[in-house]
Amino acid sequence: PGTDEVLTQELGRLHDIPLYKSFVAGWPQVEAFQARHDDLLIATYPKSGTTWLSEILDAIYHDGDLEKCRRDAIYNRVPFLEMKAPGMLSGVEQLEKTPSPRLVKTHLPVHLLPASFQEKDCKVIYMARNAKDVVVSYYYFYQMAKIHPDPGTLSEFLQAFMDGKVAYGSWYKHVKGWWEKRHEKRLLYLFYEDMKKDPWREVQKILQFLGKEVAEETVARIFHHTSFQEMKKNPTANYETMPTTPMDHSLSPFMQKGISSDWANHFTVAQNERFDQHYQQHMAGSDLCFQLEA
Ligand code: A3P
Repeated sequence: PGTDEVLTQELGRLHDIPLYKSFVAGWPQVEAFQARHDDLLIATYPKSGTTWLSEILDAIYHDGDLEKCRRDAIYNRVPFLEMKAPGMLSGVEQLEKTPSPRLVKTHLPVHLLPASFQEKDCKVIYMARNAKDVVVSYYYFYQMAKIHPDPGTLSEFLQAFMDGKVAYGSWYKHVKGWWEKRHEKRLLYLFYEDMKKDPWREVQKILQFLGKEVAEETVARIFHHTSFQEMKKNPTANYETMPTTPMDHSLSPFMQKGISSDWANHFTVAQNERFDQHYQQHMAGSDLCFQLEA
């Protein structure tokens, strides 16, 4: 079989969530992962601004030294905990080689987080993004990142998303599960939409959470470096350095548009009504609210 056939697979299952079979195979190492007290975990549902938040945090960790931020691709600077793919170091293996303090990326729902993050009392920053922009971004990502099964039409993909039949399962459960933990002192819950609207305020929250002080001019430099335009052309941030076998940027760039409310250009009126109805059912009783208007 060609490489594509090897890569593209139906999703496997990890406990209650659909997940790439190679990740499921690597799960015992992830479950046994030894976190360190000074690890900072970046947790998100896929397509919620993980790379953006990672770039911001790496820049904060290096006090805005942009040369250091360009030392390696973002997926090496911030290893992806549960990642496992043939011929590559797994996330756990990468992390074992990473000196402290480490930044760790995960898309795991809170109930599947390896126990040692809790035992070592690690800080976590969670970033959530509204469901409609996530599903559109995910649809394009399914097409360009070859590990995914064929997403079908947008209508079909919307249905799979609503049914929690996409990688990492239900968005609704993911954002709500982490939201329930938001009062824990060592968890900071952020929103992509807030970061777009008022990055100064959000970065101040991050700095306070980390107990770090950064000069204002450094923060300004970090904003510039982590703006969508800068990241889109930065090969260490835009995933272009990934081989084209796992990610085909000609099908769709990793960095699409980086805006809020692009969903409105994709959903039909009927799809939107159906989605809203399902959304209300699944978010009923929760005080977790998203901004949908740009
Ligand atoms: P779009 O596909 O809507 O453009 P993740 O990193 O979790 O996979 O999320 C990817 C999404 O974050 C993409 O959304 C991408 O464009 C967006 N993104 C990446 N960097 C960004 C930035 N600096 N500012 C705003 N959005 C950004």
